[in-house]
Amino acid sequence: MANAAMWQSRTNGVEVEPSLYAADFARLGEQIESLLDAGATVFHFDVGDGRFVEPVTMGPIVLDSIAPLIHARGAFVDCHLMVVEPEHHIPQLAGAGGDSVTFHAEATDDPAGAVELARQFELGVGVAINPDTPVDRALAASEGADFVLCMSIHPGYSGQRFMPEALERIPELRERLPADVLIQVDGGIDEANAGSVTRAGAQLIVAGSDIFGAPDIGEAYRRLRARATRA
Ligand code: DX5
Ligand code: ZN
Repeated sequence: MANAAMWQSRTNGVEVEPSLYAADFARLGEQIESLLDAGATVFHFDVGDGRFVEPVTMGPIVLDSIAPLIHARGAFVDCHLMVVEPEHHIPQLAGAGGDSVTFHAEATDDPAGAVELARQFELGVGVAINPDTPVDRALAASEGADFVLCMSIHPGYSGQRFMPEALERIPELRERLPADVLIQVDGGIDEANAGSVTRAGAQLIVAGSDIFGAPDIGEAYRRLRARATRA
C-alpha cells in the first residue's frame, strides 16, 4: 500500500513520523489519537528483536491493536525492523496491518529477496544503514526500494543524541540514489536540528523523544513539522 507516491503526497514533500517507541504505552491509543488530530499521517513502529538490537521492543500483537485506529483516519504505519532475519517478520507485520517495512542492510545477505517479499505483501519498502555502515552498502541493497533510512544514532533506544556525521551522509545518499528513492533519517531529531536534516536532503523525519517527551505531543509534532518543512 505505502509506496513512493504515498510518501510524496505529503506536506511539502516532507513527512514527520512520530516514533511510537517513545510513547507512554499505558496511553498508547490516546496518544495516537492526539497525533492524528494534530495532522500526523505516518507512524513509525520500531520492532527490536533482542538480537540485532539489545532490547525487545514491540511486534505484531501491538501493531494489530493500533493499526485499525491509524487506518480509520487514513494514516499509515511504517515498521522499522531492527531484527536479524527480517524475512521472518515481514509476513507477520503485513498481516498485523503494517503498511511499509524497513529492514537493515546489515541484517540480511539477500536484500533483493527481502524487497521482493515485502512487495508480495504489497508493502512499501525501505533499506536502513547504521551510522558505521558505508553508504555504498545502502546503494547496493536499495534496488527497488522506496526509501533509504540513514540512521543518525546507533539503533536500539529512543532518547539518544543525534550524530552530526549523518549530515554528511545524507547529501551523499541524495546525490547517488535515484531521485525517486526518498531518504529517511531516524535518531535524535529535534526542533533544533530538523531543518538541517531536511536541508541536507531528507524527506522522512522520524522523531520519538522530542514529540513524546513534550507536555503537549500534538503541539510538539506541529512545531517539528514546521521546522522540517521550512527547509
Ligand atoms: C531507535 C529507533 C528510533 C527511536 C527514535 O533505535 O529506531 O525510531 O524511537 O527516538 P528518538 O527520536 O528519541 O531518537
Ligand atoms: Zn526507528
